[in-house]
Amino acid sequence: MDYRSMFDLRGQVAFVTGAAKGLGLAMAEIVAQSGALVVMTDIDPHALEASVKRLQGQRLDVHGEVLDVADADRLAKIIDGVAERFGRLDIVFANAGLSAGSGPLTDNGAMAQVDLKRWNELLQINLTSVFVTIRTSATHMIKQRSGRLIVTASIAGVRGERMCGYAYAATKAAISNLVRQSSIELSPHNVTINAIAPGPFLTDIGHGRLHDPDVAAGFVSDVPMGRLGQPDEIKGLALLLASPASSYITGTVIPIDGGATAS
Ligand SMILES: NC(=O)c1ccc[n+]([C@@H]2O[C@H](COP(=O)([O-])OP(=O)(O)OC[C@H]3O[C@@H](n4cnc5c(N)ncnc54)[C@H](O)[C@@H]3O)[C@@H](O)[C@H]2O)c1
Repeated sequence: MDYRSMFDLRGQVAFVTGAAKGLGLAMAEIVAQSGALVVMTDIDPHALEASVKRLQGQRLDVHGEVLDVADADRLAKIIDGVAERFGRLDIVFANAGLSAGSGPLTDNGAMAQVDLKRWNELLQINLTSVFVTIRTSATHMIKQRSGRLIVTASIAGVRGERMCGYAYAATKAAISNLVRQSSIELSPHNVTINAIAPGPFLTDIGHGRLHDPDVAAGFVSDVPMGRLGQPDEIKGLALLLASPASSYITGTVIPIDGGATAS
């Protein structure tokens, strides 16, 4: 395979959740720049409109759709609608996810303080919506005998993480194994599914807590590279997993963390 065609996404249709900001926006941008038509979805209509306009200003073929992934029926309907409207569905990023607040050694994050209503909301957004996204997308990808599913997990789902809340760590671990489990069923259909497991990236997650230097320092303390990741730095791995270059990679959970899980 020629190196240019390995990363050429022209003619492909992509769908991204949580695409208005942060890592989802970077994922949408790189696959659009590589030639894909991209449907960007997000719960925040204003941020979504601004990001869609910015990418359209680069002459990229992107479309915006307001979507709360907690609404499983609407999530499935929108994915079906994308496949119907554009005739195919090639690349899906199940990316939207919420922080569960501070870690277990803080007053608010200790297990005694975990509110079960909030716990269940997190499960719906960080776990159930990912399953619904995978399941709905897979029906279209199985029919066309090709597809790339990419889930945004976290290194907090790979090991204990003192800076992250209980529901976050639990749901990110769950979706990592959901990826492995799904690869068993999807591989014979030539559909790949992988997870990206980021370390700390400077985004607005958790109401912007990573912009607080003390919080950032807490996250960075076990990152050998000694800094947060920047959203642009997710693009290489996102493009690899979305493109023909990753045709034999499936069922994996790949850390992108400045060395954090190695130390
Ligand atoms: N930033 C990090 O350090 C980090 C580390 C590991 C994993 N992640 C994961 O990366 C993913 C993206 O997070 P981010 O860091 O870019 O955060 P972010 O807050 O910058 O962006 C998240 C986007 O998702 C949208 N969103 C939130 N709830 C939604 C919902 N119910 N339905 C649809 N959209 C919704 C937000 O409006 C926002 O645009 C999440 O799954 C997160 O858990 C982030």
